[in-house]
Amino acid sequence: MPDRLHPDDPRAEIARLQTENQALRAELEETNQGVLALYAELDVQAEQLREASDLKSRFLSYMSHEFRTPLGSILSITGLLTDELDGPLSAEQHKQVAFISMASRELTDMVDDLLDLAKIEAGRITISPAWFDMLDLFSALRGMFRPIVEGSAVDLIFEEPTGLPKLYTDDKKLAQILRNFVSNALKFTPRGEVRVCARMEGHDRVRFSVTDTGIGIAQDLHAVLFEDFNQIDSPLQKRLRGTGLGLSLCKRFAELLGGEVGMQSTAGVGSSFHVTIPVTLAQEGGDAH
Ligand SMILES: Nc1ncnc2c1ncn2[C@@H]1O[C@H](COP(=O)(O)OP(=O)(O)OP(=O)(O)O)[C@@H](O)[C@H]1O
Ligand SMILES: [Mg+2]
Repeated sequence: MPDRLHPDDPRAEIARLQTENQALRAELEETNQGVLALYAELDVQAEQLREASDLKSRFLSYMSHEFRTPLGSILSITGLLTDELDGPLSAEQHKQVAFISMASRELTDMVDDLLDLAKIEAGRITISPAWFDMLDLFSALRGMFRPIVEGSAVDLIFEEPTGLPKLYTDDKKLAQILRNFVSNALKFTPRGEVRVCARMEGHDRVRFSVTDTGIGIAQDLHAVLFEDFNQIDSPLQKRLRGTGLGLSLCKRFAELLGGEVGMQSTAGVGSSFHVTIPVTLAQEGGDAH
């Protein structure tokens, strides 16, 4: 019996194909192993990302929470100083104390915004819907902004919300959205008017808009406005404070209320920001977290 098969022998062809098959299998096996290793690596990285994002949220919430107590003390002590409970202040000292209290109030607002953001990211913000009348919300907002617009060159107009049904939603979150729209509009409108109105959209949604005759926003910047920390460079901006968190909080609050935000603006003419939400907030599984 010869060891080697004749090349024309079909068994030789089969043997060759078998070897080829084995080599291919080994290669496939190796590729499989590689893919599995990559999957495992991706899993680890996804887990690390989740942990990092968790840590960031926790850090934000601890930090902002811890800042509130000392800020509260600073504010109450500046209150005592301004009221001159421990003796009179000179005019200059009054001015200095006013600066301290203004700065701490701004810092408190910033810390509150950060805390809200951290709570949203950690999925820990609570939505508490209740029935309420738009008229009450508008008059609360009007009262809040009255001292700011008094004597300024801007009229703040709340259009009567006629024909609106009662809403079932979280009025505090809705108020927070509108408050930021109005305070932005007032910040960026040197003269003219800021108009707040509410109207039905379809039969089950309501749209609130805040329209101003201010400096407006260039078209190419519209897309990034609702992202965290985005502020637009302008001479007016340089004189104003703020963190650039307001609009991104508005967007997230609107989503929590089952709605969405949007805007139109023309540079030099004015802007209009709106939020559209359902008249009745649908609660999933009855649990509103
Ligand atoms: N009505 C408006 N007219 C012109 N520019 C606006 C208007 N509203 C918002 N902007 C621009 O969008 C930026 C982001 O607004 P946002 O409310 O997020 O931050 P902010 O008002 O600067 O700070 P914060 O609200 O955190 O105190 C503003 O800094 C401003 O550049
Ligand atoms: Mg703002």
